[in-house]
Amino acid sequence: MCGIIGAVAVRDVVPILIEGLKRLEYRGYDSSGLATINGEQLERKRAVGKISKLEAKLKKKSLSSKIGIAHTRWATHGKANQANAHPHFSKDNIAVVHNGIIENHSKLRETLEKAGYEFSSDTDTEVIAHQIHYHLKQGKNLYAAFLASLAMIEGTYAIAMISPLMPDSLFAARRGSPLIVGIGVGEYFLASDAAALISVTQRVIYLEDGDIVELQRDNMTITDMAGNPVERIEHISKLQADAVERGEYRHYMQKEIFEQPQAIIDTLEGRIHNGRVLEAAFGPNAGELFSKIEAVQIIACGTSYHAGMVARYWIESLAKLPCTVEIASEFRYRKPLPNPKALVVTLSQSGETADTLAALAETKRLGFGPSLAICNVPESSLVRASDLVLMTHAGPEIGVASTKAFTTQLLSLLMLTVVLARRRGMTAETENQIVTAIQSLPRQIEKMLTLNDSIEKLAEQFADKHNALFLGRGIHYPIAMEGALKLKEISYIHAEAYPAGELKHGPLALVDDKMPVIAVAPNDDLQEKLKSNLQEVNARGGQLFVFANHSSMKQGFDYINVIETGEVDEIISPIIYTIPLQLLSYHVALIKGTDVDQPRNLAKAVTVE
Ligand code: F6R
Repeated sequence: MCGIIGAVAVRDVVPILIEGLKRLEYRGYDSSGLATINGEQLERKRAVGKISKLEAKLKKKSLSSKIGIAHTRWATHGKANQANAHPHFSKDNIAVVHNGIIENHSKLRETLEKAGYEFSSDTDTEVIAHQIHYHLKQGKNLYAAFLASLAMIEGTYAIAMISPLMPDSLFAARRGSPLIVGIGVGEYFLASDAAALISVTQRVIYLEDGDIVELQRDNMTITDMAGNPVERIEHISKLQADAVERGEYRHYMQKEIFEQPQAIIDTLEGRIHNGRVLEAAFGPNAGELFSKIEAVQIIACGTSYHAGMVARYWIESLAKLPCTVEIASEFRYRKPLPNPKALVVTLSQSGETADTLAALAETKRLGFGPSLAICNVPESSLVRASDLVLMTHAGPEIGVASTKAFTTQLLSLLMLTVVLARRRGMTAETENQIVTAIQSLPRQIEKMLTLNDSIEKLAEQFADKHNALFLGRGIHYPIAMEGALKLKEISYIHAEAYPAGELKHGPLALVDDKMPVIAVAPNDDLQEKLKSNLQEVNARGGQLFVFANHSSMKQGFDYINVIETGEVDEIISPIIYTIPLQLLSYHVALIKGTDVDQPRNLAKAVTVE
């Protein structure tokens, strides 16, 4: 998704902007650009493709300035081409970069065209630049013109603006898209993501919706939309530079898969004591809020939604609470019936997913019960909007395909289940057993990671495939869904997941000797039933790839590969079985030569609807 970086300093900011853009690359983008002020002139460089293309242009004709804004663009309005890349200018004296979506841009554009403005792009952003210019022409000063333009915008934005009219000031505003001020010594920075600031400062201020900021080398002013000053607290970002380096790994995704034992250890830290999950881990008033709930409503998108689907099995069977799980983009428009006794659980790696944020707001508007965010980014919008928070301490996840965020979400949801189940009569003995299983996770995940080489070999059989079917039953059905999502997003192989019992109701028609069928088949109550479903595949010549505890699964099948996982504790088995599926998609993508960390068309944090 789009990224913003800006700086005003006593030194040349161009290298800072480029470094920041590189650190934003993981969010996904298709073009980039930067604008600076040189004397009384705006200067700009833009390029389609990787940041290295922009750097190459800067090598030909370098820019140097003490103030600048830069952007990575992920196309929403208009193609991924140079004309649409940010920054956008108006009459060579306004430059803006923008994340978000201006919903009324067509109307604004029409009015501005009638007023004589010529557009050089198809973007909604260019409207903002011209709108500011229009207000300047009406006699307003730059700050007032900026405010007046924001007031006309419907939609979401994080905007940064510079102008030679005030060459020492960088203006910015936030509504619905994250924006952070970085504080240096005699310099200020601006970014849509703390990761972009890592090499310049750890001192940050998270702007809130409605905030307008003016940054000068030695001064910062934050106001609301009416121009009244507002106070925002300074934080120390905990992001470490080495946490976002790839180190010895070929890809971030690979690094993040192998980091999972540590991510689990970090997520567990301080949350378990004497064989019990601490309720206070969810927030100081968690006990009071949990005591009133009679249902759970989980809301999330993509991989996070799959984690929610797994949790439903745990919550209903152990905590005996009715649990509904819904995709955020559907929930927000469905007009659901409010349940004031339902705990609303949102799941999100980024904490900035627009649909999840809007769905949470909708639960508040409708009168659902208290909200709990399970999230990986501290101080994200989701965290700040929730009553209770449990951070997954997975560390920065840079690969677009979510891996360690997913398994730490599952762990967090299992801890939530235990806390809720205890309130509803789960015995200390059962809790102890679950906690023992939880504590064995890092070791068991390490064991799964040793399957890497055999899965790498297996992946060769997928290289020429165009489709794949993933099967699971019960709590492992969402794990099959997650396996299919991973495969399609990074290897571009079309993959679908089905609950295995559903095969005969339609998808079996797809099975022939060219169709790989991947099954998640742990040794649980449903293993025998799953086996008969796999026989249905076998009888149609399908190629079976089965992840199972034991190779005895092979018996009675013609074409079958069994990847042995060994015995796995049933309660944590969805977490464990995720690992080989992540490795499979990673190795298939490697063979296919795709951009593993930044798959085409996708973005890390989906901050637009
Ligand atoms: C898939 C993936 C996405 C995200 C989804 C939600 O690998 O990463 O499906 O899970 O966009 O993002 P978050 O969790 O940040 O809300």
